[in-house]
Amino acid sequence: MSKRIVIGNWKMNPRTIQEAERLFSGVAKGISRIKKTEVAICPPFLYIEGLKKLSRKISLGAQDAFFGEVGAFTGEVSGEMLYNLGVRHVILGHSERRALGEGNGDINKKIKSALSAGLRPILCVGESERDTGHGYFNLVKSQLEECLMGVSKDSIVKVIIAYEPVWAISSTPGRKDATPEDSLEMAIFIHKILSDKFGSDSSKARIIYGGSVSGKDAGEFLRHGGVEGLLVGRASLDTKKFMEIIKIAENSE
Ligand code: PGA
Repeated sequence: MSKRIVIGNWKMNPRTIQEAERLFSGVAKGISRIKKTEVAICPPFLYIEGLKKLSRKISLGAQDAFFGEVGAFTGEVSGEMLYNLGVRHVILGHSERRALGEGNGDINKKIKSALSAGLRPILCVGESERDTGHGYFNLVKSQLEECLMGVSKDSIVKVIIAYEPVWAISSTPGRKDATPEDSLEMAIFIHKILSDKFGSDSSKARIIYGGSVSGKDAGEFLRHGGVEGLLVGRASLDTKKFMEIIKIAENSE
């Protein structure tokens, strides 16, 4: 089994580089004795350069990357530029970006481009709501198939799949708690889709869970949710809360 991974998604936070440095340094200090767990933080683009000097142990990630290497794409940042800056992970297809109009086809181009730039994509999939007819399995299946179209068998092991049921994310109005059972059945389903499409080696692709993860349920998701890591939004903006989750990941068997 590969190392557990805990990834912080800072979204469009915090307000200043000083706050970002304080938060990042706090985590860097806190993880000095963490050995079995990989820790990654995905800050807004413009903080990356400043944060990179503060820790070599925290892997830096981005929250998006455009496809292509260079060109006339006003406002965009390429995977290659991020890689050259020291970034190693990139979140792609987050539900908050899908809500702004990003489709599976765009995400597919970004995934292929990120892989060729040397980045590890964190592909977010997940349904907005659960229907009694279990249609949400089909939705996740098409997200996976369309977003991973044309990805090679060798590359699939570099992709991390984040199952994030949108109805459990902290910013979703009227959100509900997802359970480790919800995560487990989807993780089994995702492994099956990957294995049908890419063969048995795809079992090396890590599946992680995200959606209001806290110190209260992190251990349960890791032990019983069929996942090898966690994608943490709100709790990653608080050093104490984020460290609590990292320590749980480090110590749970
Ligand atoms: P949350 O965010 O932990 O605040 O629910 C997770 C995410 O959106 O990636």
